[in-house]
Amino acid sequence: MTESTAKTNETVAPSEGFVAQARVASKEAYEALWRQSIEDPTTFWQEQTKDLVFRTPWTAFSDGVPPYSEGEIPGPDGAAPMTFFPGATLNLTESCLDRHLTTPARTRAALIFEGEPGDTRTLTYFELHRETVRLAAALADLGVQAGDRVAIYMGMVPEAAIAMLACARLGATHTVVFGGFSSDALRDRINDCGAKVLLTQDGAWRRGHAVPLKDMADTALLETPTIEKVVVLARIGAERCHSHLKPGRDIDWHDLVSRVPSPKSIERAIRPAAFDAEHPLFVLYTSGSTGKPKGVLHTTAGYLAGVHVTSKYVFDLREGDLYFCTADVGWITGHSYLVYGPLSCGASILLYEGAPNFPDWGRFWSVIERHGVSILYTAPTAIRAFMRQGEEWPNRYDLSSLRLLGSVGEPINPEAWLWYHRTIGAERCPIVDTWWQTETGSIMLTTLPGAVAAKPGATGLPLFGVEMTIADDEGALHDRGAANGKLVIKRPWPSMARTLWNDNVRYGETYWKAIPGRYFTGDGARRDEDGYFWVTGRIDDVLNVSGHRIGTAEIESALVSHSAVAEAAAVGRPDEMKGQALVVFVTLKEGKQAGPVLKNELAAHIDREIGKFARPDEIRFTDALPKTRSGKIMRRLLKDVAAGTVRANQDTSTLEDLGVLAKLQAED
Ligand code: PRX
Repeated sequence: MTESTAKTNETVAPSEGFVAQARVASKEAYEALWRQSIEDPTTFWQEQTKDLVFRTPWTAFSDGVPPYSEGEIPGPDGAAPMTFFPGATLNLTESCLDRHLTTPARTRAALIFEGEPGDTRTLTYFELHRETVRLAAALADLGVQAGDRVAIYMGMVPEAAIAMLACARLGATHTVVFGGFSSDALRDRINDCGAKVLLTQDGAWRRGHAVPLKDMADTALLETPTIEKVVVLARIGAERCHSHLKPGRDIDWHDLVSRVPSPKSIERAIRPAAFDAEHPLFVLYTSGSTGKPKGVLHTTAGYLAGVHVTSKYVFDLREGDLYFCTADVGWITGHSYLVYGPLSCGASILLYEGAPNFPDWGRFWSVIERHGVSILYTAPTAIRAFMRQGEEWPNRYDLSSLRLLGSVGEPINPEAWLWYHRTIGAERCPIVDTWWQTETGSIMLTTLPGAVAAKPGATGLPLFGVEMTIADDEGALHDRGAANGKLVIKRPWPSMARTLWNDNVRYGETYWKAIPGRYFTGDGARRDEDGYFWVTGRIDDVLNVSGHRIGTAEIESALVSHSAVAEAAAVGRPDEMKGQALVVFVTLKEGKQAGPVLKNELAAHIDREIGKFARPDEIRFTDALPKTRSGKIMRRLLKDVAAGTVRANQDTSTLEDLGVLAKLQAED
C-alpha cells in the first residue's frame, strides 16, 4: 500500500450507460434489497435462488432465527452453530451445468481456454456437461463415492474445472492444491484430509517452461498412505515433460475417460444423487496466524447460493458476457468466481493458463482483444506490475469489449485504481473492488456496479445478508458512523465456512472468540461517514504478499526445520509492488556460518517446504531475536526494523544485535 491509500475521498459515479441497464440501478434500490436480506432473509433468498436447481426445495432459510444470541455462536463443539436451507437436497452441478442444457446456453461457450503456448479450446455447456459426466463415471469406477476426499493438483487447464465439477457431481469433497505448492505442502494437505484419489497433470506451462507437477506429486505420494489411485493428464506431452506412470496406481486421464464405464456409474453420473444442503463440497487449505494450514470446509447449498447471487450482482453477468478471472483455481477466487459462481449464472468464462507477462507484458490485453472479454477480475498486484510497465502495452490493444472491471485479494491503492479505471477501463467501466476471504466463500463488501459510486481505495458497502461492523480494542461494536478497528461480521451468512477439517475447536477459537459470538475476519478497517469500508489489511500474524496469503507461523516452522536455524521470525514490510514483502530474521545454531551461501540454502528450503511463491524477499541473520521479559518475540519492533523505521545496524548484511534494541525499547 502506498502513503495515499487511506486519504482520498473522491467518488466515481457509474456511467449513465451502465446505470441504464443495471440490475440494481440506485443506492436506494441497493439499500432496500439489503434491508430485505437482513429483515426477511427467507423472502430474499427465495427470490434470489429461484434459478438454482433443488431436488427437495428449501422452506426455511436457516435453522436459527436472527438475531442470534451470543451463546449460539459458534456451536457447542466449536463448529458452525447453524445450517442454511435445512431440508433442501440438491446436486450442485445441476445448477452449473444441467440447467443450461434446456436453454440457448447449451451451445454457447461455457469455457474458453487459452494455453500459454497459444493453443485454444472452447467447451460449450453441452460439452462441459458431457466431459464432467464422463469423468464422474470414470471416478465412480475407480471407487470414488460420496463423502470421499479427492485431491486436485493441477494448473489452469479446463480439466481442473472438470475435475472439481465431477467430484461435486459424485458428492466427493475436493481439495484443490495450488500448483505452486511444493511436494511437502501437497503431501501435508493430502494427509490432513485423507484423500483417496489424486488428479494431476504431467506439467503446467509457466513462462515457457513446464512445471513438473507429476514429478512433484510423485515425491509427495511416497508418504500419502490414503491415496489409492492417481489420474494424470498429459498436458505437455512426454517429449517436453517426462512423467512416469506407476503401474497399478497411476492412470492416464484420457485412457480413463475413454473407457466404457459400468452401467451403474453411467447412471450415477447422468442422473446424479442429490445431497443434503450441508453436504461437504470442498476443503481448501489456507494460512492462519498459528500452526499448520487450515482446511476450510464449505458445504453445498449455502455456498452455491452465495456465489450465485454475488456473481450475478457484483459482476453483472449476462448472456453474451465473456468473463476473465485471472485467479488460479488453487485459491478461493478460482473456486467461487472462475468455476462455480459464473457457471451457475450460465456465463462464458475465459481460462488462461500461464503468466501475465509471457511472452510479453501485452499478454492479458491481447487475450482480451482476441476473445472479446467483457469483464476482467484481477488483483492489485497485477495492476501495479502492469502500471510499472507503462500504458504503451495496453494501448497497443483494442480493449473496447470491456464493460466491467474487478479487483480482489488486497487493498487497491488509489493510484492503481485510477490507472485501472483510465488506462484499462477508459473511464467507461465501473470498478468493483471486492473484499472477502477463503472463509467467507463469497464476496462480502463491494460497490454494486450501477447502484453505488466507487471511492478509489475503499472497498465499499456490505453485500446482501452481510452485517459488517467495526469492533474497537475492547470488543465493543460500532455499527454506525465513522469508526476504526477490527472488521467483524455480526451474524452468520449462507456461504460461510462451516468448520476447519477435523478441527471444530480451532474453528470456534479462530473466528468466533476474539469478539464473542461474532465472526472476526483478521482484518483491520475503517468505516467512513458514508458507510464505506476501507480495509487496511491483516492485523493478525498473516501476511498478504502479492495477494498470496502467507502465515508467519508456517514460514517460521519451515525455517526452524532447517538444520542450521535455531530461531526464526517472519514479518511483513510495506512494499509498493507486492503490498507486503516477506522479511525473515534468523538466529543460527552454534557453529553455523551466516552468509550468502546459507541465505540461498534457506530460500531453497522454503521452496521445498512450502513453494516458491513463499520465498522471503529478505533474510536477515541476527545474534538474538528481541524478546519481552516473558519470552515473546517483539514483532512490532521487528516490523519497524524490517521497514527501516528503526535501524538495527547500518550494514544490514552483517549480524544485527537486536537484543540491544530490545533493551532500549524496554527502557523507553
Ligand atoms: O486481508 C484480506 C485480503 O485477503 C484476505 C483473504 O485472503 P484469502 O483467503 O486468500 O482470499 C483472497 C481472495 C478473496 C483478507 O483477509 N483481501 C481480500 N480482498 C481484499 C483484501 N484486502 C483488501 N481489499 C480487498 N478487496
